[in-house]
Amino acid sequence: MRTKFLFLAIAILAVTAVMAQEQGNCVTNVILSGYSERAFTDEAVTDRQLELILQCGIKAPSARNLQPWKFTVIRDEATMKEAINNVVAGNVLIIVSGKVAENGSTPDFDCGLATESMFVAAHSLGLGARIYGMPIGKINAQRDLFLIPEGYKAVTVLRIGNTDKSVDATTAATPRKSAEEIINYKK
Ligand SMILES: Cc1cc2nc3c(=O)[nH]c(=O)nc-3n(C[C@H](O)[C@H](O)[C@H](O)COP(=O)(O)O)c2cc1C
Repeated sequence: MRTKFLFLAIAILAVTAVMAQEQGNCVTNVILSGYSERAFTDEAVTDRQLELILQCGIKAPSARNLQPWKFTVIRDEATMKEAINNVVAGNVLIIVSGKVAENGSTPDFDCGLATESMFVAAHSLGLGARIYGMPIGKINAQRDLFLIPEGYKAVTVLRIGNTDKSVDATTAATPRKSAEEIINYKK
């Protein structure tokens, strides 16, 4: 009886795993339904949400595992506004800074990977997120204000926050080029 139950449980798990591969799963769903948020509310991102997002950034891959990044978390509204003028009180900015390149390191690329990991993590937690490149010049010109560590330069800014639920994902999403336009195969 117990063996039969075990076999049944294994069979269900195997079928579920195959279905997850065929139909998508929670990770692919988050990536495919994600978009760059524009409409945020004042509701604050919690410390636990922020901690999980930062852990996902720390876990990102990097060339030679050099992890050539620092993350500066800004919650102070006045400082956030210096970088992005339409931020709201509940937002958090994470400035991702790369270590000045050394032998074999690819800091800009690696910072991009860490940023994307945190972007996806924010969406998976039901938050909105947007990556910004525009404020980088301003941030690097005011390193002390934004607490950019010595020997590093800001590469991206990730804005996270709670979303305005009246704006649906389909309306907010930006279209993508078709698969035919982007992918070629050698079979
Ligand atoms: C490296 C990078 C820099 C970006 N800089 C800005 C920016 O300065 N301002 C902005 O509003 N959006 C910025 N974005 C967001 C893009 O505009 C957005 O990802 C793109 O239009 C796709 O939109 P979607 O994610 O809603 O589909 C940036 C995205 C990336 C990856």
